Amino acid sequence: FPVATHTLRSLPVEMFPRPPKKDIDWANLSLSLNGNASLNGHVEVRHSLSTNKWSTPRIVADENIAVSGLSPGLNYGQQCYEGLKAFRSARPQGETITVFRPNFHAARMARSAEAVCLPAPSQELFLECLNKVIIANDEWVPPSNTESFLYIRPVLFGSSSNLALCPPEETIFAIFVFPTSPYHGAEAAKALVLEDFDRAAPKGMGAYKVGGNYAPVWRHAAKAKAQGYGLTLHLDSASQTYVEEFSTSGFVGHKKGQTGQDVMIIPDTENAIASATCDSLMSLARLKGWKIERIPVPFSSIRDLDEVVAVGTAAAAVPVESITRNSSGETVVFADGEKRLLHLAAIVADIQRGHVADTEGWCYDV
Ligand code: COI
Repeated sequence: FPVATHTLRSLPVEMFPRPPKKDIDWANLSLSLNGNASLNGHVEVRHSLSTNKWSTPRIVADENIAVSGLSPGLNYGQQCYEGLKAFRSARPQGETITVFRPNFHAARMARSAEAVCLPAPSQELFLECLNKVIIANDEWVPPSNTESFLYIRPVLFGSSSNLALCPPEETIFAIFVFPTSPYHGAEAAKALVLEDFDRAAPKGMGAYKVGGNYAPVWRHAAKAKAQGYGLTLHLDSASQTYVEEFSTSGFVGHKKGQTGQDVMIIPDTENAIASATCDSLMSLARLKGWKIERIPVPFSSIRDLDEVVAVGTAAAAVPVESITRNSSGETVVFADGEKRLLHLAAIVADIQRGHVADTEGWCYDV
């Protein structure tokens, strides 16, 4: 994945990356193909259970994948996925395309795969596929002067027919890419605690990036949205006491310590998905001498915070204006902080686009 894989490129090296496509409204893209059919294709590999081997990665110029209607991926939700980003970034030798923390995502996918009994692509295969699909779609990476980015969606699922509750012969690993703009926009959002629905059971699947953690939330999030809440927040299912995460993103809080020190608060819970963005903010905060508190966060303590941000790959960093809990009639407002978390998030964005040195080794140039 480091620069050497030029042989995967169908273009002469000096033409990489191609400039962004013309006539695209890069600033206003949704989390879909935006009517652009399959772009320049996705990458696909298939795993055979009997040989325990993956096929050679190939670009398929189609957004569709042929799978058995009797596959456990379709019937039992035997799947997991990832979300990561690529940017046009500035380098001394000119513009290149950078993927943010692909190793973090490969490792997270391996953990999710194990939880749903799927063979995980090795880190090497994950990176090879990533490289291939980005090179094929380089002209779809948005220009560097927009907030938009290339969204990368790796997906892994049991694909051949098998309705018995055991792994099927075939598993597909595919990576799709498309340009998109930040999922929740740049405006501050109001959040609502979801009290009629438990996202994750104790000792359940809450920490894994599987589809089952997302689709069941839609109807509740849609209802909240109709009431003006752009975000929904989950508390722990067992006691409805501790903050876990937003439905689409992680929870990060800030407060000033007694000596005026910056303190970052991250909920310590086994039911939230590890977030690359949160992890990156945490590393930067540590470098800047902040105190990091990864602790159980009772809902009753969030009024001590002066800033809360919802962080995720697609979301980037959404400032949370307030959090409402209907059962207790509370609305906690986070209005007048110094926006220290947003400042850190802007540094992460600058690292991603090559405007600030990547001292942590997060950026992988394609
Ligand atoms: C991501 O941020 O990449 C996710 O997978 C969250 C999803 C709701 C878009």
